[in-house]
Amino acid sequence: MIRPASKDSAAVLRLFPQNTELADDGSLMVGRCLLRDVADEFGTPVYVVDEPGLRVQARRFVDGLAARWPRSNVAFASKSLPCRAVYRLMADEGLLVDVAGGGELLMALDAHVDPSSIVLHGNAKTDAEIVLALEAGVGLIVVDGFGELQRLGELVARPQAVLLRVQPGVDPMTYAGVATGQRGSKFGIPLDAIGDAIKQVSRSRWLQLAGLHLHLGSQMLRLAPWEKAIQVIASLGTFDVYDLGGGLGVQYTRDQPAPTIDQYLDALVTAARAHLPNSAQLVIEPGRSLVARSMTTVYRIVTVKSGDPTFVAVDGGMADNFEASLYVGQAFEATMVERVGGGEVVELVGRQCESGDRLASGVLLDAPRRGDLVAMPMTGAYTHTLANNYNGALRPAIVFCSEGRATAVVRRDTYDDFLAREIKWP
Ligand SMILES: Cc1ncc(COP(=O)(O)O)c(C=O)c1O
Repeated sequence: MIRPASKDSAAVLRLFPQNTELADDGSLMVGRCLLRDVADEFGTPVYVVDEPGLRVQARRFVDGLAARWPRSNVAFASKSLPCRAVYRLMADEGLLVDVAGGGELLMALDAHVDPSSIVLHGNAKTDAEIVLALEAGVGLIVVDGFGELQRLGELVARPQAVLLRVQPGVDPMTYAGVATGQRGSKFGIPLDAIGDAIKQVSRSRWLQLAGLHLHLGSQMLRLAPWEKAIQVIASLGTFDVYDLGGGLGVQYTRDQPAPTIDQYLDALVTAARAHLPNSAQLVIEPGRSLVARSMTTVYRIVTVKSGDPTFVAVDGGMADNFEASLYVGQAFEATMVERVGGGEVVELVGRQCESGDRLASGVLLDAPRRGDLVAMPMTGAYTHTLANNYNGALRPAIVFCSEGRATAVVRRDTYDDFLAREIKWP
């Protein structure tokens, strides 16, 4: 029996995965799986993914872009949630796959992603990574600078399509730590050097310039920077491929709206129609906006320190959600798994030894007690990616939930994993 949500719980539920419901006792379910059962089976913290919801979100991007610009591709920025099952899912839904490093490339190949649909990124690709990508036969390499162009030219021995990553000099109006398109960024080739880079590619026997790439930043809540950047790259000449990167921001809290996918695609495609050749291929690379909402993290409360403020401390923290600590000022939401919405204002904190280890500040929790479960929505992006063993934390399992079946696609760390890299000394 599914219970209808009250007004307050409806506000927080909107942040949870698409296939989230309340059971008849008011307890949270994702993909028809009770979160308390998932927590009991796989331990906490646990990352719970709404698998069908993730597929629908992938199709929203693919179909939405294709409807507006038929010669187009959506690439999954895999750094946002790099695990084999997600690589496979995205490839099945018709997305290209972006990788930014040897490990991500190997994981994509291990998930049987077609190498020709893989795009290699990175501002400091090692020779070993370039060789790995060339040997695998990746579809595109996004070249980030002259040194890389030189090394790539020396290592390549058969035709290889490349994009040049432009530094468009446009402020993405986001957190400094995730801004990449502005002048002075470590990423990309400055505008006044692109002409020389194009000449260098044309002198190479094997490299074929397919087009230009830009990526302005992440968690972008305004659309104007993309419109500006498209205008800027249009001034660099005519190319076959324009990869506009990722960066669409998401709604982390009830009162922080983000552009919808439709608004974002409308803005991009309107600017593309105005400034780019209409025969060109458009590529976008969403990460955060593709995966964030599909996943919720479930924690168990370890202790409650009542006072002003009241601290509710759980069995995870910045070791499994570094995002909450990384962007100072970015608020997150949370709710009790068995009593959704409402309650008292508390500080939801983790168990890592940093004052910055706050998962959600000033959040409402209804009668939190030791042993209860807390769920944090919107935790799909860059949480598993940045998970670490701070204070000996065991990194969580990732569990796909669909139609009442809960399946681990990444298992939880064990203490043996934790000790495995240690070498006996003396
Ligand atoms: C080159 C590139 N493309 C796409 C993305 C994905 O960005 P987001 O997760 O904000 O959509 C990133 C993220 O840093 C990136 O560096």
